Amino acid sequence: MRIDPGEHEPLRVYHLMTSVIVPRPIAWVSTISRDGVPNLAPFSFFSGLTATPPLVTIAAGRRRGARKDTTNNASATRELVINVVTEALLEPMVQTSGEFPPEVDEISLAKLTPLPSVKVRPPRIAESPIQLECRTREILEISPGIVDLIVAEIVLVHVDDAIEVGADLSIATESIRPLARLGGPNYTTLGSIKKVERPT
Ligand SMILES: Cc1cc2nc3c(=O)[nH]c(=O)nc-3n(C[C@H](O)[C@H](O)[C@H](O)COP(=O)(O)O)c2cc1C
Repeated sequence: MRIDPGEHEPLRVYHLMTSVIVPRPIAWVSTISRDGVPNLAPFSFFSGLTATPPLVTIAAGRRRGARKDTTNNASATRELVINVVTEALLEPMVQTSGEFPPEVDEISLAKLTPLPSVKVRPPRIAESPIQLECRTREILEISPGIVDLIVAEIVLVHVDDAIEVGADLSIATESIRPLARLGGPNYTTLGSIKKVERPT
């Protein structure tokens, strides 16, 4: 079978991509509005872009042409926090993905604990073991009227004391117990890890 994305409805192409590009890490993004209302939402079209400087990207779709609260806040305040999602956080993470109006604080809604950040104003989520404080670098209207690409720079990383950080700053992934998204409402956890050194 050959599938040409140009010959199919966007929703079908979305289903194809989200079931093939797997497993995807989940950025659980906390922001605050210009008026100080906290916001929290998950994004799995999320990727590390470069380490020098430490950039990440998040593709935030629009709702009927309107930017999501996360995009509006990251644009207005130029700040966001990416909270790493673990297995234990599956249910509250999904709860915060509801289409709530901007005045709803999803952190309280999901009964999560906000912690003050150090370099940025949006709070961190205490239940997440690793939080990345970020500043917005650019917001690109990558698909006009449909998707905004948030490019953010990591300015501070918080790691829970229970997680060991190596001298080279690497972290044993199994100690994080990360959750990843598959297609639709399906998620997965870390499977077995295979180690293979690269040729020199
Ligand atoms: C696991 C998960 C991953 C998601 N990934 C994305 C994504 O990459 N891009 C996107 O636009 N929406 C994504 N969503 C949907 C948003 O979380 C949802 O639209 C949310 O209401 C946005 O909130 P906001 O308006 O407060 O920013 C995802 C939802 C879930 C549950």
